Amino acid sequence: MPNSSSCDVQVHIPRHVAIIMDGNGRWARKRGLARIKGHEKGGENVLAILESVQKLGIRYLTLYAFSVENWKRPADEVAALMLLLEAYINRYFDELVKRRVRLRVIGNINVLPDHARVPLERAIHETARFTGQTLVLALNYGARSEVLEAARSYANDVATGHASTDELSWDKFSRYLYTRDMPDPDLIIRTSGETRLSNFLLLQAAYAEWYFTSVLWPDFDEVQLLKAITEFSLRERRFGRTGEQIASQSDAT
Ligand code: IPE
Ligand code: IPE
Ligand code: MG
Repeated sequence: MPNSSSCDVQVHIPRHVAIIMDGNGRWARKRGLARIKGHEKGGENVLAILESVQKLGIRYLTLYAFSVENWKRPADEVAALMLLLEAYINRYFDELVKRRVRLRVIGNINVLPDHARVPLERAIHETARFTGQTLVLALNYGARSEVLEAARSYANDVATGHASTDELSWDKFSRYLYTRDMPDPDLIIRTSGETRLSNFLLLQAAYAEWYFTSVLWPDFDEVQLLKAITEFSLRERRFGRTGEQIASQSDAT
């Protein structure tokens, strides 16, 4: 959706922004605080960024909150993260309803502790009717686990006659992924200076634009988001075509 800003620069608002919220631990360490204080601050930032995203008209926001690999962290940090997840879901529930935001999850949440899973499922259920804005939490998410789960369900459907290998297309297979009814991310942001994917949305990111910033997640604010969106706007997404083809397409519209 092109919008004109005051200086007449065309800003293309992405439909789906995904963020790898990294750097909570370093944010806390820089201040001589325990890592969990960084996670608390990072959790507070979720509401602020959700507000900015809504204001800008970005319809899907996906946040990488806990990876399948994060279980390898010290048990006390994992337990504290699960308690924070419960606390933030309870704290933000009214706000999600007020803002008419649908909450979704990608990842296997069946193995989360009940104290976190139950409020999460309730929030997902009670916001399912909202269609304008979607907040997707990637929780116990890993792209490789997602593909394995999809391949298992697909094989099962073939075995029971509900799918046929001859007809397999990307469109059909992608319906077995957690993201089956969501658009692919247009822009993926990673904070904290790391420039790796860490098993996040590997297939859905096939044509996403990546934006890496050294800003730590608790410090990532609306100004930082606007910087990312502005840079996204300046990129030419060619999807395999030539720049000339893209230019003639936009001349025609
Ligand atoms: C991201 O911050 C939050 C989670 C992975 C849960 P980190 O905890 O990874 O922060 P750093 O990378 O140690 O600074
Ligand atoms: C990726 O961050 C996962 C989340 C932000 C939830 P990590 O901090 O766990 O990633 P690595 O281990 O540095 O790659
Ligand atoms: Mg990290």
